[in-house]
Amino acid sequence: MLTVIGVAISYLLGSISFSILIAKWFKGIDIRSYGSGNAGATNTLRVLGKGPGAAVFLLDIVKGIAAVVLGYLLSDGQWTAVLCGLAAIVGHNWPIWFGFKGGKGIATTVGVMCSLALLPTLIAGLIAVAAIAATRYVSLGSLLFALATPVLILVWQKPYAFFWASLLLCIFAFVRHRSNIVKLLQGNENKLGARRR
Ligand code: G3P
Repeated sequence: MLTVIGVAISYLLGSISFSILIAKWFKGIDIRSYGSGNAGATNTLRVLGKGPGAAVFLLDIVKGIAAVVLGYLLSDGQWTAVLCGLAAIVGHNWPIWFGFKGGKGIATTVGVMCSLALLPTLIAGLIAVAAIAATRYVSLGSLLFALATPVLILVWQKPYAFFWASLLLCIFAFVRHRSNIVKLLQGNENKLGARRR
């Protein structure tokens, strides 16, 4: 029962879309009508600038961490923490407060996976940062992060619960980045700092 309550709270927490709120509060706009149309940190950076983009990135990470911490507070086992983390990402991607039209879940995934398996997630994050620095494609970095996390969790022999969670999150990431993948393959994906195409 505690797990069900934790999952429900985590979903509601994840549904708090900071990119939508910050864009609404500071510019009076719906971020989903601008830039890539995504309710996430990258699009906030693109549309509103570095400060709001960084704020959204950090807040989305924090809500992922908060969901996992809640799970650990509710139960000693790993599965409640894993399910609460997954629920926060589901909330971020399909938020009940904003018509189920949310983001792609990467920053919240960073928060969740850092809380579950810090070292593999940090290394996956470094791979992502290196890819973004080399190509200026944030989406490519996000996808590499999503792919690397389950592989590194296996390498580090972390609990299987964390591996299955990261594998599911990898699938989420690829599903949510469908349009980015098409643009990457066509060579017309938006680059960080470039004018939007
Ligand atoms: O995490 C989202 C990022 O990978 C892509 O964002 O706005 O370029 O679709 P965007």
